[in-house]
Amino acid sequence: MKNIFTENKTYYGFQDKEVSQTTLVELYEMVKNNATSFNCQPLRITFIKSKEGKERLDPFVLETNKEKTMQAPITAILAMDLSFYEDLPKNFPAMDVSFLFKDNPDFTYQTAFRNSSLQGGYFIKAAHALGLGTGPMSGFDNNGLDEEFFKGKNWKSNFLCNLGYGDEAQTRPRAPRYEFDDIVEIL
Ligand SMILES: Cc1cc2nc3c(=O)[nH]c(=O)nc-3n(C[C@H](O)[C@H](O)[C@H](O)COP(=O)(O)O)c2cc1C
Repeated sequence: MKNIFTENKTYYGFQDKEVSQTTLVELYEMVKNNATSFNCQPLRITFIKSKEGKERLDPFVLETNKEKTMQAPITAILAMDLSFYEDLPKNFPAMDVSFLFKDNPDFTYQTAFRNSSLQGGYFIKAAHALGLGTGPMSGFDNNGLDEEFFKGKNWKSNFLCNLGYGDEAQTRPRAPRYEFDDIVEIL
């Protein structure tokens, strides 16, 4: 069986094969059961499948990311809800910590960014576990995209992720990775 941590690749093109709604639900089931601080779960996901949705996205995607984004069966917007703390009394029943975030936009932003990025990582690995290929992208106009897709919401985009059954021919050779001794210290 493929080891999803050592044999994974980033995909720049996908097979012409739909990703079912059941698979997307299964994907989220896997994402949601992972850790976030205070169980705050700031991640919000918009799956863009339709031609109309892709056309709305297109103007905000960096030129070099356009073709692969248009070709991918799905592009997910992985965003964070800066109002996540309003749900903390429900999501973290051990104690009400929402007061830590109220009127504290810096801490709120840091917490949302850290935890939605972690949840984005869980998303990528869950997709791999389900046999899907991923193409994460930060090359886009965040503010423009937020204006187009998140009007009236307190959501901010974090990164985009193309999703589908990967086309092995549209991957790149593995680029250098640091070895254990290069980046680890044990004190
Ligand atoms: C957060 C994030 C943002 C990325 N942004 C882009 C992007 O805008 N365009 C692109 O072509 N690749 C993008 N990549 C892909 C990386 O360049 C790629 O994952 C990396 O080179 C490792 O490649 P590999 O997974 O095939 O080994 C991004 C990856 C991540 C995780």
